[in-house]
Parts: sequence; C-alpha cells; structure tokens
Amino acid sequence: ISLQKLNTFGIDATCKQFIKIEQESQLEVLYDRQIFAGPFFILGAGSNVLFTKDYDGTIIHMASKGISHFIEGNHIYITAKAGEVWNDLVWYCINHGFPGLENMALIPGTVGASPIQNIGAYGTELMDVFYSCQAFDSYNGSFTTFNKQDCKFTYRDSIFKTEHKGRFIITSVTYKLGLHTAINTSYGAINAELEARNISNPTIKDVAQAVSHIRVEKLPDPSTVGNAGSFFKNPIVTRTFFEQLQKSYPAIVSYPIDENNAKVAAGWLIEACGWKGKVIGNVAVWKNQALVLTNLGAATGLEIYTISSKIMNDVYQKFGINLEREVNVL
Ligand code: FAD
Ligand code: EPU
Repeated sequence: ISLQKLNTFGIDATCKQFIKIEQESQLEVLYDRQIFAGPFFILGAGSNVLFTKDYDGTIIHMASKGISHFIEGNHIYITAKAGEVWNDLVWYCINHGFPGLENMALIPGTVGASPIQNIGAYGTELMDVFYSCQAFDSYNGSFTTFNKQDCKFTYRDSIFKTEHKGRFIITSVTYKLGLHTAINTSYGAINAELEARNISNPTIKDVAQAVSHIRVEKLPDPSTVGNAGSFFKNPIVTRTFFEQLQKSYPAIVSYPIDENNAKVAAGWLIEACGWKGKVIGNVAVWKNQALVLTNLGAATGLEIYTISSKIMNDVYQKFGINLEREVNVL
C-alpha cells in the first residue's frame, strides 16, 4: 500500500503490510501472530518521519480514539488514546478550561507520539505536563506503565528514542495539569502576537490562538507543502564554545539552558550558510524558516536526505557544530 497520504512529507513509499490499530487488544493478537518477530514500524500521523525507501516490513498505524479526565484536588488527570490527534486534545483542555497545553496548540501528530521526542513549542514541553503512559512491549506481549522518571525526557528526546527504540508501542498517555497553572507567555513571539491583538490579560484560548497564528505564518502547511517541521534539532553546545563563536558572529541566536550550555538556533546557522529559501530540484529550504525542509511535489525521501547532509556539512564547515536530524529517517 502507498504511504503517501500517511506522511506529511508526502513521500510516495510503500510497505509490505499495513495494519491499523483501533483497539489495544489487537496488539496481543499481532503478538500471537508473531508480527513483532519481523521488522515493524509504528506510525502515528507521519509528521516526523522521512521514508528514503519502501518499507520492507509491517507498518502499524495507531488509530485508537478516546479522551477522558478526572479532577483530584487541584489537579486534572487526562488520559487520551494513542491515535487521538494532539491538537484535538489541546482543544479538549482549552474548552474545559484546563491550562497547560495551550502553548503546544497546532503541533501536528498524535497523542501516542507526543512522548517519543518530548514534543515542545513556545515555552512548554511535553515533560511539563506528562504523568504516565501505557505501552505494549513488543518483546513479551505485555502492557506496562511508564511514569515520568522512566521516560528520561530531555530536549527532543526520551527513552523511546534511545534505549527502548523500536520496542514499545504507546497505547495511551495520561497528562497531569494544575487547575491554577499560570499562563506562560515567556516566549517572546507570543507576547508580540498578543500585543498586536491588544490583549493584555490573555486566557488560555488567547494563547492557543496566538501560537496557532504564529505557526501558520512561519511554518508550511503539510496539506499543501510537504514537510515534517524542524528537520534538525537545535544543537546544544558548551557556553565556552558559544562565547567563542559569538566573537566571530555577534548576531548568532541562542536560548539559555543552564550555566554550562547554550542551545543554538539551528535555523540561524542554516540561514547564515546561505540555505534559506534555496531550491534544489524538488526540495526547498523553507523561505520563512530555514530549519524546515520541504517537498515541492515530486521529491523522493533520498533527495531530501541528501540535501540535509549537505546542510549538515556546510554548518559543520562554517561553525564546527554537528547538527542532528530531528526527523526519524527510514
Ligand atoms: P509519526 O511521525 O508517525 O512518528 C514519529 C516517531 O514516533 C516515529 O519514530 C514513530 O515510530 C514513533 N511513534 C509514533 N506513534 C507511536 C506510538 N503510539 N508508540 C510508539 N512509537 C510511536 N514537533 C515538536 O516537538 N514541536 C513543534 O513545534 C513541531 N512542529 C511541527 C510542525 C509541522 C508543520 C510538522 C509537520 C511537524 C512538527 N513537529 C513538531 C513534529 C511532529 O509534530 C511531532 O514529532 C509529532 O509528535 C509527531 O507525531 P506523529 O503522530 O505524526 O508521529
Ligand atoms: N532563525 C533564523 N533564521 C531562520 C529560522 C530561525 O535566524 O530561518 C532564528 C531567529 O532568530 C528566531 C530563532 O531562530 O527568532 C528561533 O526560531 P523559532 O522561534 O522559529 O524557533 P526554532 O528554534 O527554529 C523551535 C522548535 C520548533 C518550535 C519552535 C517554537 C526545534 C528543533 N524546533 O524552532 O519545533 O515550534 O521552536 O517553540 O526545537 C519541530 O520540532 O518540528 C518544531 C517546529
């Protein structure tokens, strides 16, 4: 079957076998059928994957639905099934008046993928609201629960991308929100957008709408231009190294993270290498955000991958920084 409509890059790859999961119990049946003994890949909405070739195995597409919550004291516990659309969960919370997810409005993808790379945007990360997740262990066919510590979340990373890569299938996620959590507009762009809207006392809905507006302006819409958001992670370098760089490049952009390290805006590095807006064959570096690679229509995954390697090489030559791909390459 063609996976073209199942990945936001719109790459026309195929797979040997495709299975859609709507009920968690189906996973036990697949285990008994030994599906997990062969190559398999878990697919949510395909908004963070790049197929560079046809997939020679089983694609398991998570499509289970359901959201529920309960309130205990000052906390709200919300559980959503893996196949729920992340942005629907965000709006479920906003419509119920539950604060905490509004800064992550409009991130594409599913609930089940949200812990994988510890999604984040505009001053909030998944780990700020994550409580636990339920996962199916493809090694032994049983369900298990991961709490926040177990997941070892860091910037765009978790145990599901490292030690446990390819082993667990997340079937549901529970988020813990505070009923009285204050609104977070620490990310500069949000404040500017709220000011432009003449909003001085924003509600969570105002924040979600401001963030959604910024995103639509800056990022290409996958339904018209294939892409997977940021292609690379923002690199983390030591402060000493950063201060050296700053001497040669005073305009370089960074985010403070701790005393010893700085996170550099990869988009700035890529733009400084002259890549912003560049078109090569069927691939373009997005004109408004150099961190985003786009498929102009007929690109193959390999073409996109090759350009990403060229960008990595240029950034290394100029700045001595190794960019790391954020997108999952298959
Ligand atoms: P997929 O792309 O289907 O899968 C991603 C990875 O997760 C794969 O390795 C897959 O095997 C694994 N996976 C998926 N579901 C499960 C599951 N249930 N169990 C186990 N493993 C699973 N990300 C951000 O963090 N912040 C952003 O601001 C952001 N902006 C974006 C903007 C655009 C326009 C696009 C296209 C993407 C953006 N992304 C962003 C990336 C993407 O939204 C996230 O990575 C999202 O979590 C991917 O969800 P998905 O369901 O599409 O996962
Ligand atoms: N910049 C440039 N040129 C560019 C792009 C960015 O100079 O072409 C500089 C600008 O100074 C800009 C700064 O970089 O102010 C930061 O840019 P932006 O606010 O767009 O954020 P980002 O660091 O490029 C990260 C995430 C995004 C997330 C935004 C908002 C990563 C890899 N990316 O991008 O996540 O939406 O912050 O929080 O951390 C994704 O992961 O797919 C994604 C889109």
